[in-house]
Amino acid sequence: MIFGKREIIGLDIGSNAIKLVELKETKNAHQLKNIGESLLNPDAIADKAIVNPDHVIDSLTELLEDLRIKTKNVVISISGNSVIIKKVSLPVMNDDELRQAIPWELQQFIPQSIEDINYDFQVLPGEDSEGRMEVLIAAAKKDLTNDYMQIVNEVGLNPVVVDIDLFALENMYEVNYSEIDGILALVNIGATITNINILKDGISIFTRDLSMGGHQYNEWIQKEFDVGYDEAENMKLSLMGNNIPPDLKRITDDFIESICGEIKRTMDFFSSTLINDSVSKIMICGGSSKVPQLGLALEDITSCTVENINPFRNISYNERDFDSEYLKDIAPKMGVAMGLALRKIGDKE
Ligand SMILES: Nc1ncnc2c1ncn2[C@@H]1O[C@H](COP(=O)(O)OP(=O)(O)OP(=O)(O)O)[C@@H](O)[C@H]1O
Ligand SMILES: [Mg+2]
Repeated sequence: MIFGKREIIGLDIGSNAIKLVELKETKNAHQLKNIGESLLNPDAIADKAIVNPDHVIDSLTELLEDLRIKTKNVVISISGNSVIIKKVSLPVMNDDELRQAIPWELQQFIPQSIEDINYDFQVLPGEDSEGRMEVLIAAAKKDLTNDYMQIVNEVGLNPVVVDIDLFALENMYEVNYSEIDGILALVNIGATITNINILKDGISIFTRDLSMGGHQYNEWIQKEFDVGYDEAENMKLSLMGNNIPPDLKRITDDFIESICGEIKRTMDFFSSTLINDSVSKIMICGGSSKVPQLGLALEDITSCTVENINPFRNISYNERDFDSEYLKDIAPKMGVAMGLALRKIGDKE
């Protein structure tokens, strides 16, 4: 430790790729120090559980070597169905009382024994209409968090925080965007998961992980054209060009319709819990947000303004070290990793 400052890297182990971001903190600002990704085989992570740890370790080792990473402290994150996030209202109490009350609260909505889960909580600002405090609780099976921690331990890194994709996104958004008034949705469309975090005046009021993403689109292409995963991926990435074969166009439209429909259903469900408010803006990111026309279709179907999130909006970088075209290309995928890199040790326990 030099001058009390500890460096960290943000590591997003996604089902399609491992993404890494390292920042340098300058005076009141953040500067990019390292960034990169390493692709994973499609079957390495299934339903966000690590199925082929050796492959994930190899891919991560390669990434660390390529980027010549020296920093050991790492912030990772988890997401998906196995992560439970719940907001509860409790009588106003102090920290010690709260620490005792949380396990009991958890047992109300988690079937597993408390010994088998990891959890964290945060008191939300303000109080509900009955003067009770609102607490956000996040919980996941220890097995899941341990699997991710084991991967980073194996490559000699030290996991200091296990975060949640949804909250990393929120953190990334806060640092990059000052517009926090009103209700907006952060939507990260990845390979197997679409994370949705709805913020009201900058505070998370609704979260959901949908089990949908670009991987499904590949499966449809594979089936239709009788090709392997890699070929399907290449076909997908060629969509930016002209002369798209009609069958591929149809599958693309189906994918867009299905993912936008699911996002809209989630928004509608959320809106039904509100009295006068509704989501007016959707900020999208994630590799699959790059599917051409997806943003426009989402705008059409939800009647919200849709904008692409730029995780580098308030992050400076040295143009001699980083190619701006590369950063622009990779930016949509880097939302979670950026949010993780922005965490500070001691931010969360
Ligand atoms: N230009 C593009 N056009 C369409 N899809 C793309 C493009 N670039 C990347 N993708 C898709 O984005 C997905 C990867 O995005 P991302 O890195 O956000 O996912 P992930 O974090 O690895 O997955 P998850 O969070 O779901 O586990 C893949 O399905 C990939 O095919
Ligand atoms: Mg992801």
